[in-house]
Amino acid sequence: MRFDVFTLFPEAFDWYLTQVHIRAAQALGHEFVLTNYRDHTPLSHLQVDDTPYGGGAGMVLRIDVVCAALEAAFGVDAERVKDTRRVVELTPKGRQLDDPLAGELAAGPDLVLLCGRYEGIDERVTHLVTDRVSIGPYVLSGGEIAAMATLDAVTRKLPGVISNPASVVSESHAAELEGGAEYPHYTRPAEFRGWEVPEVLRSGHHAEIERWRAEQVRKR
Ligand SMILES: C[S@@+](CC[C@H](N)C(=O)[O-])C[C@H]1O[C@@H](n2cnc3c(N)ncnc32)[C@H](O)[C@@H]1O
Repeated sequence: MRFDVFTLFPEAFDWYLTQVHIRAAQALGHEFVLTNYRDHTPLSHLQVDDTPYGGGAGMVLRIDVVCAALEAAFGVDAERVKDTRRVVELTPKGRQLDDPLAGELAAGPDLVLLCGRYEGIDERVTHLVTDRVSIGPYVLSGGEIAAMATLDAVTRKLPGVISNPASVVSESHAAELEGGAEYPHYTRPAEFRGWEVPEVLRSGHHAEIERWRAEQVRKR
């Protein structure tokens, strides 16, 4: 799969793109491409934003700048990009990212993430996108952290990226857990400051451990 992120701050991804599961995805042939809107602006002085019609606070990322960046990256009219890719505007006004949506996005087609800044992207971006996605009911300063959260949740779902597939299937919010929270994990030491690991987990009785874990999922 190809993942494209459009941003004014590509350097924000420097650390993220070196992470082990991203490297694993790249080794499997998946691609991560960053495009800086500013590199393709048709405006003078590298302008990318403008004041809002009707007045009010802040600046708005211009639609002509977003179109120019999409066209430079994909070589087709900006409105046609969504014919072959899922084009997502990251916005607090969008559908909230959850495990089913991450699974949907991981199933393809190629994914394009548009990061906003300032007051956001000119509303006419709706002509260019297939989806509007929010990572939660709060406002971030820009779409970069939202893009990383989305890439992370989606990349984990790509077959082979996480070395033990069982750990993805039974994670919190997964269908196997009916959307619930995963059971608790413990490791050595068995006792620390008087805090003990539940006896059942040290018992070696696999059927009882499974029962205990299922019970914990139900309780949670
Ligand atoms: C300061 S926000 C704009 C907020 C906008 N004026 C509003 O009230 O809905 C700037 C950019 O950050 C990103 N952003 C902020 N919060 C987000 C969230 N919860 N989910 C996804 N993206 C978010 C979006 O890309 C947005 O265009």
